[in-house]
Amino acid sequence: MSAVKDKGINLLHWVDYRLPVIKAFKTHMSGYYAPKNLNFWYIFGVLAMLIFANQLLSGIWLTMFYTPTAEGAFASIEYIMRDIDSGWIIRYMHSVGASFFFIVVYLHIFRGMMYGSYKKPRELVWIIGMVIYFLMMSEGFFGYVLPFGNLSYWAAKAILSLIGAIPLVGEDLQIWVQGDFVVGGATLTRFFAFHVVLIPLLLLVCVYLHIIALHQVGSNNPEGIDIKAQKDKNGIPLDGIPFHPYYTVHDLVPVVIFLMLFFAAVFYFPAGGGYFIEPPNYVPANNLSTPDHIAPVWYFTPFYAMLRAVTIDFFGVDAKLWGLIVMGGAIVIVTFLPWLDKSPVNSLRYKGRPSKVMLMLFAISFLVLGILGTKPADWAPFWVAPLFTIIYFGYFLAMPIYTRMEKTKPVPTRIGAHR
Ligand code: HEM
Repeated sequence: MSAVKDKGINLLHWVDYRLPVIKAFKTHMSGYYAPKNLNFWYIFGVLAMLIFANQLLSGIWLTMFYTPTAEGAFASIEYIMRDIDSGWIIRYMHSVGASFFFIVVYLHIFRGMMYGSYKKPRELVWIIGMVIYFLMMSEGFFGYVLPFGNLSYWAAKAILSLIGAIPLVGEDLQIWVQGDFVVGGATLTRFFAFHVVLIPLLLLVCVYLHIIALHQVGSNNPEGIDIKAQKDKNGIPLDGIPFHPYYTVHDLVPVVIFLMLFFAAVFYFPAGGGYFIEPPNYVPANNLSTPDHIAPVWYFTPFYAMLRAVTIDFFGVDAKLWGLIVMGGAIVIVTFLPWLDKSPVNSLRYKGRPSKVMLMLFAISFLVLGILGTKPADWAPFWVAPLFTIIYFGYFLAMPIYTRMEKTKPVPTRIGAHR
């Protein structure tokens, strides 16, 4: 036994001499000191990596049977669901996985907002995160078109028509992106190429950079205290613990709970009550039959509601273009949080009441807009969507004012010092 162990160790050293695997493990796992007070909200980064791996693996498998043509796409999905051994489970792991990916990442982003994780020195972690989020949205959109169900078709048509709203170049650009005068086979093959090659590659690179940038500056924590400011004589943060074995073992429990929830959805709730896969997508694309209500998947609906909230032309600009600007602005503005937040403290725990109220209003506006986006435009009184759009933007635009003016609580120098 020990001979085998010795051989294993020798092999490891042989590899390490040529490729620094032991050094990498030390830097990012056993020698990476994370704050000792990371809580529930800190699990979503790990879960995002887990579900990303699920998407890659199940996706590779789906491409073996999927046909990226307008004639064959829908039938190939039916074939996977009905005839391929265990095909249905892989397909649902992928489609349910997409929704879980967004749930996890929305909670991950919200954690960052609560604890001020975007603030100096983590600005780049945040910006790379926002690039990841943008890539995820593109990936979700391209993926949703691929089964070429009726909502895939009409949603693609609606979203692509937004490109047509761009002044001067819009119409030509739309045809160029579509690859044809209509949404069809040419659109599907290029979306397939983006969905399975381009965007996953970019996502992999960005996730790698996200972690490297985080480990360069170190993790924030619920208290927002800089643990690197208090070190022992060996240079180890007094309030830090090695990521491995402490957090690797600790994270196993939430990972198992998450997998139980995920597979419960895969087995018993795969269409997510019509939110993960909408009913019109169970019928093939038909350009003669518009679904009663065209709406994107739930994770886009807050932005879709903002797009629809603008209904009047002003400054000589078409309402549709304003809608597009508002929708794009709603995503881009999040990237600027590191510079909008002027508070001397990181965590909400030490910020004043205005910050707490504004974050709560932001969360409510995001949820309300999300619900509105799933419903027909006349479902709520006309002023509801514009009001919540204003609240959404108010959180960001007023931030330099309320974070500068509010009274903050003194931040202890050591974690747990206030108890
Ligand atoms: C594929 C998607 C993503 C993956 C796999 C991922 C992964 C991770 C991991 C593993 C961590 C360290 C553990 C933790 O703090 O939770 C982390 C931290 C962080 N992530 Fe992400 N992330 C993703 C998307 C995003 C997005 C969209 C944002 C925001 C725009 C973001 C912002 C951050 C920030 C600010 C931190 C540092 C948090 C702190 O130290 O308090 N991430 N991420």
